[in-house]
Amino acid sequence: MTVLITGGTVVNADRSERADVLCEEGLITAVGENLDAPKGATIVDAGGQYVMPGGIDPHTHMQLPFMGTVASDDFYSGTAAGLAGGTTMIIDFVIPAPQQNLMDAYNEWRGWAEKSVADYTFHVAITWWDDSVHADMGTLVNECGVNSFKHFMAYKGAIMADDEVLVNSFTRARELGAICTVHAENGELVFRLQKDIYEKGITGPEGHPLSRPPEVEGEAANRAIRIAEVLKVPLYVVHTSCRQALESITRARLEGQRVFGEALAGHLLIDDSVYRNTDFEVAAAHVMSPPFRAPEHQEALWHGLQSGSLQTTATDHCCFCADQKAAGKDDFRLIPNGTGGIENRLEVLWDQGVNTGRLTMNEFVAVTSTNAAQIFNVYPRKGSISVGADADIVVWDPEASKTISAKTHFQNVDYNIFEGMTVTGCASHTISQGKVVYANGELQVERGVGRYVDRPAFAPYYEALNRQAQLAEPVAVDR
Ligand code: URP
Ligand code: ZN
Ligand code: ZN
Repeated sequence: MTVLITGGTVVNADRSERADVLCEEGLITAVGENLDAPKGATIVDAGGQYVMPGGIDPHTHMQLPFMGTVASDDFYSGTAAGLAGGTTMIIDFVIPAPQQNLMDAYNEWRGWAEKSVADYTFHVAITWWDDSVHADMGTLVNECGVNSFKHFMAYKGAIMADDEVLVNSFTRARELGAICTVHAENGELVFRLQKDIYEKGITGPEGHPLSRPPEVEGEAANRAIRIAEVLKVPLYVVHTSCRQALESITRARLEGQRVFGEALAGHLLIDDSVYRNTDFEVAAAHVMSPPFRAPEHQEALWHGLQSGSLQTTATDHCCFCADQKAAGKDDFRLIPNGTGGIENRLEVLWDQGVNTGRLTMNEFVAVTSTNAAQIFNVYPRKGSISVGADADIVVWDPEASKTISAKTHFQNVDYNIFEGMTVTGCASHTISQGKVVYANGELQVERGVGRYVDRPAFAPYYEALNRQAQLAEPVAVDR
């Protein structure tokens, strides 16, 4: 398919320019003024609109088996919903059960993802440790295009990585040239607080944020950062939700440490009052970890994005319907943790980021696409409107307005955490792999066309890190 996008303003992370964009055979083949339309080309009229790199959501969990159930959006419905909102690639997570062989888990997830309608790639979680995990991390980096490993510092008794696992895995990741990522919450503290709160008779969803206060996240973020500092490995902190964690990231970056931070659209827009809703279904629909925070933390997160302390935005898209959330009707600890948002991330961030003057359009592109592509080493194939890049593009109508609702969204979940929010600025067209897959409210996707995207290791930079680590070897004193 050949597509010519005419009359728009191309907005990349580094500049904006009036230009047409020609897409042929899945790639961008020309960017310039007044391009001629090849015979048979589909024309997308982008007059008065912005033409931006498709969104990259670096944190999703499609059809994740979690807390006794499975996330309701699978790789088909979830990637389709993403396209409807202008997101053209996801980075999902392979999460082995404790003791599960890493390669088995990786192959299982690769099989599930074959139904995707947009491109995808995987972080792999390290949930336990032995020699096979050490070896499989090597296979994943050297043969499978994985360059990032995830560590859940929470979910004790399930997928939690303790300090021993972190130290082993961080060391191995540096050797291999991979980046480490962490879900930063102190799992021991969460476990204790959950028990205390439940035993005090607080059994409803309001107990969820009480058991996961910001200090619990700040402690874990700081611990992971300091472990990464000692072991000289770059670190990416997922779903940074509070000032305490942000301050640790900011301090480390000021000290020259290679640490990155991600903010979720939900954490930027929604506050913790949702947990005090008297309707169990509404409160439970917002149960995710880390929880939504008091408003002061949202402002801090915006400042983090504005200042560059946080580089990416994501959704942690992990949907559970009301009947699944009902598992925790009498005990908040059993409510499956997770919320959605892949379809709405770009529009809510545009509305609350660009329309409010917090972010420029170029910064918007950086935090929704380009920075993730650079941090996870798929730039400029992804995250860029330039010749040779994949033709993953969103055409953005800054005047279009809509009210978000579960009644009209494509996500396979019966609740929308942004329900009732009216946004100005939406995707009018999404182009994925050079094909128009979403136009003016209509999705036209093909099951299984999504491709697995290889992400090479970060060789030269890590060679320097590994050299430094050797130089730092202590020398015994000869007595
Ligand atoms: O509550 C959440 N975030 N569920 C998905 C798993 C995770 O912690 O990222
Ligand atoms: Zn998490
Ligand atoms: Zn997650």
